[in-house]
Amino acid sequence: MYKSIKSKKMGLTFELNKALKVKEIKKSKHHFPLKDSTFRSKDLIEGIKVILSRNVTMSKVTKKFEKIFSQKMKMPFSLMVNSGSSANLLAFQCLINPYRKKRLKKGDHVLVPSICWPTSFWPIIQSGLKPVFVDVDKYTFNIDLKDLEKKITKKTKALMLIHVLGNSTNMEKLNKILKKNKIILVEDTCESIGAKYKNKFLGTFGDFSTFSFYFSHQISSVEGGMICCKTKEDEDIIKALRSHGWSKDLSNQRKLEKKFKDINKSFFFVNSGYNLRPTDIQAAIGLSQFKSLNNFIKVRKINKNKIINKIITDKRWNNQVRFLEKTKNVDPSWFGLTMLMDKKFKKKRKSILIKLDKMGIENRPIISGNFLKQPAVKKYKFAQKSSDFPNANYVHEFGFFVGLKNKIMSPNETSKFVNIFFKSFQ
Ligand SMILES: Cc1ncc(COP(=O)(O)O)c(C=O)c1O
Repeated sequence: MYKSIKSKKMGLTFELNKALKVKEIKKSKHHFPLKDSTFRSKDLIEGIKVILSRNVTMSKVTKKFEKIFSQKMKMPFSLMVNSGSSANLLAFQCLINPYRKKRLKKGDHVLVPSICWPTSFWPIIQSGLKPVFVDVDKYTFNIDLKDLEKKITKKTKALMLIHVLGNSTNMEKLNKILKKNKIILVEDTCESIGAKYKNKFLGTFGDFSTFSFYFSHQISSVEGGMICCKTKEDEDIIKALRSHGWSKDLSNQRKLEKKFKDINKSFFFVNSGYNLRPTDIQAAIGLSQFKSLNNFIKVRKINKNKIINKIITDKRWNNQVRFLEKTKNVDPSWFGLTMLMDKKFKKKRKSILIKLDKMGIENRPIISGNFLKQPAVKKYKFAQKSSDFPNANYVHEFGFFVGLKNKIMSPNETSKFVNIFFKSFQ
């Protein structure tokens, strides 16, 4: 008996080692990739434990992660989902849901920054609401509060705010504007988990907030996300929407069951729905990572400062770029190292970025650039044009970012990065 357990365990170890070797071969072609894995063996072991338990679908581990997430973030309700995009969709579907007493109506206006991610934007359309784009700040890339105030009308009912790449806007000023105009706030915090404004976590100011645990983010559950809300009413709606419209786990489940006596209680559907559930495997990995969030943020900050200090003290430094500024009172949770190329490189801009990539520093646009330039938006023929957003256009043209490693960079690595940086501008 003992022998057979031992040999089974050894077989498993052998298989795991074999799998780990395969993983080692698949290294990125870039020395400095955009996606640097945050996974440590201890995170993956938590996932493997769930797999070996055979109880892999959404259950106790997901609940545990949600509870710990709520406690740390200081948000009353947190529900894990299979992606940050799903969390955004659920926020807007909840806002229009017939179970919500104060719900949005078809055609109500929702403000959204012109530099945004597709799945921050499309849930507005998918929920029958009207998006109204707002320009961004030229140097923080976050929403421009002056332009936001100009875009508010009687029809404005909500704001889909994006906290860009670990930073945010002036939340105090924004809150005042929103309160005065009775505008609901959804905070897309998918790029900024752990960042704080005046010591309060981003993602705790709004009625809803969303987070992403995609592979390249500050922490990861492979794919995954979280949606937080402030009322039991919203929590119940989101729970049902997340899982086929099912009544399971809702606070008013018993009351509803009494009303509909001829329906099987295991297959009792009270709302419209999707299947946006995570698995307990993702929850176990995500929770293990979440416990080290502060450390991940700290390491990214150290690496960012190391690179910037080395670049700006180098004799080749000629203000080639401007580094992203953090907003006053924000304690950021950097996503990547974000830069704006100086205008003097306008003509060489593309070739510089190609050189950076070829020499080993992978790079990409800020979120998806000025989103109004994307073919998907053009297809829908909105009245607003990409040219109406000068700052977004500026960021679209000159902004880019590179990845930040999750382990403290050695002096050699930092020098390598800095040399590639300067060579790409030659
Ligand atoms: C601002 C923003 N919102 C939402 C998402 C979507 O998150 P996910 O990839 O988990 O669906 C992303 C993706 O990175 C993002 O940058």
